[in-house]
Amino acid sequence: MSDPSIHRIVLGVTAGVAAYKAADLVRRLLERGFDVRVVMTPGAQAFVAPLTFQAVSGRPVHRDLLDEAAEAAMGHIELARWADLVLVAPATADFLARLAHGLAGDLLSTLCLATAAPIAVAPAMNQQMWRASATAANVAILRQRGVEVLGPGEGEQACGDVGPGRMLEPVEIAERVRAMAAPAVLAGRRVLITAGPTQEALDPVRYLSNHSSGKMGYAVATAAARAGASVVLVSGPTALATPPGVERVDVISAREMRDAALARAMWCDIFIAAAAVADYRPAEFSERKIKKREGDDSPRTLELVRNPDILAELAATNPRPFVVGFAAETHDVEANARDKLARKRLDMIAANRVGVPGTGFGVDTNELSVYWGDGGVALGSASKTDLAARLVRLVAERYDATRSA
Ligand code: PMT
Repeated sequence: MSDPSIHRIVLGVTAGVAAYKAADLVRRLLERGFDVRVVMTPGAQAFVAPLTFQAVSGRPVHRDLLDEAAEAAMGHIELARWADLVLVAPATADFLARLAHGLAGDLLSTLCLATAAPIAVAPAMNQQMWRASATAANVAILRQRGVEVLGPGEGEQACGDVGPGRMLEPVEIAERVRAMAAPAVLAGRRVLITAGPTQEALDPVRYLSNHSSGKMGYAVATAAARAGASVVLVSGPTALATPPGVERVDVISAREMRDAALARAMWCDIFIAAAAVADYRPAEFSERKIKKREGDDSPRTLELVRNPDILAELAATNPRPFVVGFAAETHDVEANARDKLARKRLDMIAANRVGVPGTGFGVDTNELSVYWGDGGVALGSASKTDLAARLVRLVAERYDATRSA
């Protein structure tokens, strides 16, 4: 796999009031060592003069798809190939709609279609426009396709409204991009990851499951691939798109997940179990839909049997990979996580609180603490994307430390 690090950024500026902040963003990105080329939409040029961006970036600004001179210097296809990342900040509601629907009427949207590089957008718009169902649907499409959505922030807006829709501050965007540009700490490593829920069928129409969306595990898969690893993601049923560069194996039940993971135990150097695997399944599967008993309201009993513990089984293989578990806890987080670390003979465990707003199941954010034999570190509260990048760096460090010991 090629070095996935990001060095060269095409910064697209679209027609929002926050366009003036994009000049500061160019400076922040340059300070962090990125090479930046600016592309402006025609509307953006009504807010800020291209000369401003030329002055801060030290490069001519790309503005027009049909500009012969610009195309002769560095054409849109060349620019699309040059980029390691296309970052659009600010990204207006109109631009998000065009990107979601694959329109290519100007240089920036054409470039987004023509590039193989990852795309990140920092939305900026009025709070009602951000809340509009059309915008929400467009953002969902973009996320599905793996576009990184940075923000927006909340607060007072240029129009006087208060709410979500402010572009994140340039420093924050630059830091998020730096997190995306992970150094290739896992280059040459093979990483197996489980993610999402399992579904345990009761009859052809019903199953037992949990609230896992797969977001945490997919973020870890994305971060591991960005860090240079070959990644196989064994996924329970989710609505998420496969991260770029990741091989995905779809499963439904815990037993299918176990078989898919065990089959790759000898292949992988590192195993990370982020899936929320059902501990129990119905003792019997009814081939026919279970009917309610008319006129009988007495309680019914469902008999359950234990599912295999995939993590413990992987940790017991010989030779075994470096094994990282997750722990979802409602209380006594460290004590319970350390108990799982020891009981399942893991190398590391990442613990998150569940049942608290903003962490655990379903949401885009989380709070993680990681423990191993004689150590531990709090990775803090952040987006699952950021936490996954931090976790992957830590896994690479600990993996290298145990291998050299
Ligand atoms: O998917 P999201 O909506 O983003 O939510 C993320 C998450 C909360 C699911 C994730 O961060 C997380 O905590 N995943 C582990 C959830 C869990 O099942 O925790 P546990 O404490 O019950 O299990 C401990 C570990 O054993 C986990 O690594 C789990 O994958 C593994 N396990 C559990 C049972 C089993 N039969 N086989 C397993 O491999």
